[in-house]
Amino acid sequence: RRILVLNGPNLNRLGTREPDVYGTATLADLERELRDAAPAGAEVDLRQTNDEAELIGWLHEAVDTGSPVILNPAAFTHYSYALRDAAALVTGAGLPLIEVHLSNPHAREEFRRTSVISAVATGVIAGLGFGSYRLALAHIVSRA
Ligand code: DQA
Repeated sequence: RRILVLNGPNLNRLGTREPDVYGTATLADLERELRDAAPAGAEVDLRQTNDEAELIGWLHEAVDTGSPVILNPAAFTHYSYALRDAAALVTGAGLPLIEVHLSNPHAREEFRRTSVISAVATGVIAGLGFGSYRLALAHIVSRA
């Protein structure tokens, strides 16, 4: 079964982007970690885009293919109602969608305290670095 791990804007810069906040590991490192952690039969499909429309299209694809989703919406978290509506299609179809964040947005600027995604997510894991994704994967795998 395929698990979509979808990453929003600027996460392609992991490794050099604000390393004090996000660490020095890259998205390729994350992909490797998640693939190593996934049991046989679970395929981790990790993607990143800076484009809201593309991210929405991937959520539609998750609905059409019945794929669970791990989503780091990045800055879209805080204001994209279009992404929220697409996320609602996923959970509305009975598929898990876990919102993840590397940092703890509640410990940062005020604008990061609002997530327009959380209310339609299955669950939210934040502040644990790659651990946020690992725990989300463990949950999805345990429910498969
Ligand atoms: C983030 C937190 C967001 O506030 C920020 O815009 C990001 C990354 C995180 O993973 O901690 O781009 O989603």
